[in-house]
Amino acid sequence: MSQISDEKIPNNVNLSEDKKLQRALEQWQPNFLQWWIDMGPSGFQAHQVYLRTAVGVDASDWAHYDFVKMPDYRWGIFLAEPVQDRKIGFGDSLGQPAWQDIPGEHRNTLRRLIVTQGDTEPASVEQQRMLGHSCPSIYDLRNLFQVNVEEGRHLWAMVYLLHRYFGRDGREEAEELLSRRSGNEDRPRILGAFNEPIDDWLSFFMFTMFTDRDGKYQLLALAESGFDPLSRTTRFMLTEEAHHMFVGEAGVGRVVQRTAELMREAKKDDVRSLGGLDLRTIQKYLNLWYSLSLDLFGSEISTNAASFFAAGLKGRAKEERFQDHLAMEGTYAMDVPDASGQLKREEVALRSAMNEVLRDSYVEDCQRGVDRWNKTLSEAGLSDRLSLPSRRFHRHQGIFAGLFFDPEGKVISATDWERRKDEWLPSPADRAFVKSLQAKAIIEPSKMANWIAPPPRGIDGKPTDFQYVRAEA
Ligand SMILES: [Fe+2]
Ligand SMILES: [Fe+2]
Repeated sequence: MSQISDEKIPNNVNLSEDKKLQRALEQWQPNFLQWWIDMGPSGFQAHQVYLRTAVGVDASDWAHYDFVKMPDYRWGIFLAEPVQDRKIGFGDSLGQPAWQDIPGEHRNTLRRLIVTQGDTEPASVEQQRMLGHSCPSIYDLRNLFQVNVEEGRHLWAMVYLLHRYFGRDGREEAEELLSRRSGNEDRPRILGAFNEPIDDWLSFFMFTMFTDRDGKYQLLALAESGFDPLSRTTRFMLTEEAHHMFVGEAGVGRVVQRTAELMREAKKDDVRSLGGLDLRTIQKYLNLWYSLSLDLFGSEISTNAASFFAAGLKGRAKEERFQDHLAMEGTYAMDVPDASGQLKREEVALRSAMNEVLRDSYVEDCQRGVDRWNKTLSEAGLSDRLSLPSRRFHRHQGIFAGLFFDPEGKVISATDWERRKDEWLPSPADRAFVKSLQAKAIIEPSKMANWIAPPPRGIDGKPTDFQYVRAEA
């Protein structure tokens, strides 16, 4: 393991050897902390929270669990160990040594990629900041804060790259990462899904299931980057990211399990009168967050994606799975709407379809999660199932934006969309209902909200009713 120093900023990048960089980051640190106090979790900042902290990058021993007040969390800079003699694995520079510094011609593009990724990290913390006041249990409250502090660390990961490799431009970008605000009209976060409110726990679980999973695929694609520091940073972020998707998939899974129990007890589909979440509502939230997350992959046909790939900046998830790393030949068949909005099969040059290739891996991964939820329904003896809507449904980016499709992917008119959208997406009444179930936080360790099943096990070997968050000095 590289040296983990016990400096102001924990790191394994020999920060103390670069005094200028160290000073610049130490100047950014109080601004980050101020942002955390202003825009991080509302309430609970003086509580002791049982949190995982990254202390190194050893696969078996990288994290440490203990009680800590969130503002005292040790946000650090950790890069995965370098791969000896690493070569660029795709694109026009295939087989050349990975870059340890930024090639001048890719400087602006790389900065944009890093800033776009970096912007999502504080954005999600802002989106989730009120959730502590309506948590279904103290176990879930702790998981929320775990996700939040780690998104904070992911911001550090990107800010390190900006400060270390982009000079003054990078430092300015790092300031701006703290000044944009999720949902703000004048200074919004960069990507759409990161400006949507997450003010109930069903949204939170869907977000961590679907939107954090977009993050996983973006990080996998950046982990392939020819720019080695970016690859190493994102490889380590993926280690932490796994827990976020666990929170989402298991969270929705426990909601589905509770709903199935209530449906069996009541012998009816509508469990709202029993204080549960009905499957229709769960499906609507799924439709919303899945479609918002699909947008994050960008357009199906994209010259940007083609040039990121050609330049060796952003690859495909697990590039080694593929035979042909040049992707100069080959095409990708996709349904493309023509001028009248009707779909026509087209062969798109493979490099221009890289966003869609990444989206394919993502969709498959999401489907595995939905299959597990459906297994819970089938084991409960129910015939109802959840499903992913068509990837054309409710899109705002790419070739389907501005057109209307039902969840099966059939073209419909704007009038039909208006008439029927509340059947498919959460209506104001649905949102009000979901919130009504979560009017107050449940923080007695042995208790669980009625609309969600308890987890099968606790965190870090602790019991499920452990006091993960404590109000004490
Ligand atoms: Fe993240
Ligand atoms: Fe995450």
